[in-house]
Amino acid sequence: MKKPSYNSLNELLESRAVHRHQIFEQYIDPWKVRGARHLQTDCKFTRAQGAYLYDEAEVRYLDFDAGNGVFAIGRNHPVARSVMHELLDLSPPNMVDREIPLLAGLLAETLVKYMPKAAHRVLFASTGSEAVEAALKFSRVLTGRPRFLFLEGDYHGATYGAMSVTGVPFISDKLEPMLPGCDAIPRNDLERLEKELAQGDVAGFIIEPIQGLEVRPLDQAYVQRAQHLCRQYETAFIVDEVFTGFGRTGCLFATEHFNVEPDLLVVAKALGAGYVPVGGVIIRNDLYNKVFDRPGIFVHGSSFEFNDYAMAAGLATLKVLDQENLVENARKNGELLAQGLEELKERYDMIDEVRGKGLLLGIQLKAPESLRLRASGRLMEKRGLLGHMLMVQLLAKHQIITAAVSRTNILRLTPPLLIDKSQIHYFLESLSSVLKDAYRFPDGIGRFAAAQFLRSLRT
Ligand SMILES: Cc1ncc(COP(=O)(O)O)c(C=O)c1O
Repeated sequence: MKKPSYNSLNELLESRAVHRHQIFEQYIDPWKVRGARHLQTDCKFTRAQGAYLYDEAEVRYLDFDAGNGVFAIGRNHPVARSVMHELLDLSPPNMVDREIPLLAGLLAETLVKYMPKAAHRVLFASTGSEAVEAALKFSRVLTGRPRFLFLEGDYHGATYGAMSVTGVPFISDKLEPMLPGCDAIPRNDLERLEKELAQGDVAGFIIEPIQGLEVRPLDQAYVQRAQHLCRQYETAFIVDEVFTGFGRTGCLFATEHFNVEPDLLVVAKALGAGYVPVGGVIIRNDLYNKVFDRPGIFVHGSSFEFNDYAMAAGLATLKVLDQENLVENARKNGELLAQGLEELKERYDMIDEVRGKGLLLGIQLKAPESLRLRASGRLMEKRGLLGHMLMVQLLAKHQIITAAVSRTNILRLTPPLLIDKSQIHYFLESLSSVLKDAYRFPDGIGRFAAAQFLRSLRT
């Protein structure tokens, strides 16, 4: 077989660019390519900076997704880039088992400074799922108990343990059996939570304070009482801030909105600046010391846990968040965006609800009431495609990237935290125009539904 030969990465990319779909289709995932063709959402971007991505014709696209929340500090931030360059130029030995790594210590030291009180330590991981695994295992060792509780609708990752405490419907039955002893409980139901905890066999209760997938915040009173109950029944209170952490919701951690202090705080996504994945579990020192009370106790580990590049990316992210006041920016501009969306809700009954905090916002859509649009609207609503309709139109007509959550009629907005007022106004004007089109005679929604149907025959 002919092996690839090339002189530079750029040369390789340029020479194979025309076969992009074919290569992905043949060697990775044909369905992803088909889906992108079907929705006409595949763009060929050549570069990105901050909140913008640029295509081959140098048309710029405004990013209201930030790679599922990964690019909190925007793409290719100059500080993170220069830190990565600097480290490459230092040619660090990196991940030497016989060395106590300084960069990992420095990142842990910085992370721990953000915790409200008491001393903490950090278990590092590469991804959010892996960090959730570490938190679950730590809780088992800490308590000596078998069970975990989680909330219906929450997402915690795609490894077996993380998936076993994930309550979303799209997980295939064929993946069963999941980890035993993992039970979903209804959201905001304190009675049920206490009933389960009182059995005395629950190692950990894991929550997303604001569920990222459909953007559903928990009630503040529920989260506060849940923490209290976990303490009472000696169950580890695990808060998964993989999505909400590092300023996304207008506070450094979403737990601040709820005024709670988790036993274990799980982080990832934005910490790696979009360059190198890095996750971790920030653990209260007293709990850490209970588990690691003598040398040689193994709870979690991985080859890449102290990867210098990941640690440096983490330090760069925290520096940028701090220097550019991005958490405060997320709070202020999140309020501006939410207020604008509420105003649109008054004008367009297709917007049912606006949920979320800071720059984690979800627009719940429904079929318009108007007689003209009801049939096509209901058809699209039933298929859960209203969010997709707006996503596709925003991309094609206004060059804005958003995310539509499958089968839910939700358009989710998670722009980089450095987004500014003018970009928010542009987004709101564009959304207003797309909604106006949808209401237009002869039936904007119906036209979209028909185009989708025709395309599905062709792809
Ligand atoms: C709340 C939450 N937890 C865990 C994960 C899993 O993180 P990763 O995709 O890095 O494994 C995600 C990913 O979206 C998430 O949103």
